[in-house]
Amino acid sequence: MSPRGRHAPPAGDPPSRHPSRAEPSIGHAGARGAEETPRPTQAPPGHHPRAALPRPPGADRTAPHRSACDRAGLRRSLPPAAPLRSLPTPKCRFPACPKKWPSGRRCWGSPLLRVCLQLTADHPWGRMMVSCEQAQLMANLVKLIKAKKVIEIGVFTGYNALNMALVLPDNGRVIACDINEDYAKIGRPLWKEAGVEHKIDLRIKPAIQTLDELLASGEAETFDFAFIDADKESYNEYYEKCLRLVKKGGIIAIDNVFWNGKVLKPRKDDLAAQSIHRLNEKLLRDARINISMLPIGDGVTLAFKL
Ligand SMILES: C[S@@+](CC[C@H](N)C(=O)[O-])C[C@H]1O[C@@H](n2cnc3c(N)ncnc32)[C@H](O)[C@@H]1O
Repeated sequence: MSPRGRHAPPAGDPPSRHPSRAEPSIGHAGARGAEETPRPTQAPPGHHPRAALPRPPGADRTAPHRSACDRAGLRRSLPPAAPLRSLPTPKCRFPACPKKWPSGRRCWGSPLLRVCLQLTADHPWGRMMVSCEQAQLMANLVKLIKAKKVIEIGVFTGYNALNMALVLPDNGRVIACDINEDYAKIGRPLWKEAGVEHKIDLRIKPAIQTLDELLASGEAETFDFAFIDADKESYNEYYEKCLRLVKKGGIIAIDNVFWNGKVLKPRKDDLAAQSIHRLNEKLLRDARINISMLPIGDGVTLAFKL
């Protein structure tokens, strides 16, 4: 097992998909460590959270805060939001289907995706999984561009691979690259149950090797979509090889491009942050692609090959 950060976990503490979930660091409040100063979760009665914001000079400090919506009378004219409980819950045929979903995790599409989500979330390394929203976006993009050939670099239990396989045509393929077969064994029964196992071609070896083999077998410019989500230190190599493998008009999605904000000032000893930072800078100026950097999950860059 390679000692590459969270992607090839050493014995010890489980990793975090987003560094903030494991370490107290900058980032979203839900991810704070215990040693940080706790944030008040509720404003005192009658105190609007925004009341703490600076008010314009001369403003009446005793007046209760009124938002732009209040002032425009919008709040009264909006219909009340439907309670979430009223949404129908899809029934699952899968025998191992858990009754309870982990809190804060939502899922879409096939009930089998929920099962995969649950099984992965229960795994000690479950935080390596992509978020539901990301997986949904990847599948929507794959569907939108009518992709047939997809590469995923970093499969883990195959939650995202399953998402993409479900929207591929029957003759579509996900070349799924990972170095750890044990993870894939968790999701594989679900690929089968979903009837898409034949679309997921799992290759257990270093992803660079798989990409080189694809290039050597004449598959350059034949892929529609690639998702890069493995060891961060190799991101540039993955990107360059995917750029050769993907067709013009194809998309390369790169995960964790924010690295919990650490890319802004990468520490010298943080090779992952440095690698992502360098790639972010390069993509900005790369004339071979157009990009969209999306603030979803830990940041996803979509590179559209020109
Ligand atoms: C963040 S997880 C991938 C999550 C996955 N995309 C999902 O849908 O949940 C990273 C994965 O990369 C794999 N990995 C790490 N180094 C690798 C390498 N050199 N080649 C291929 N896979 C690698 C790890 O085994 C791990 O399963």
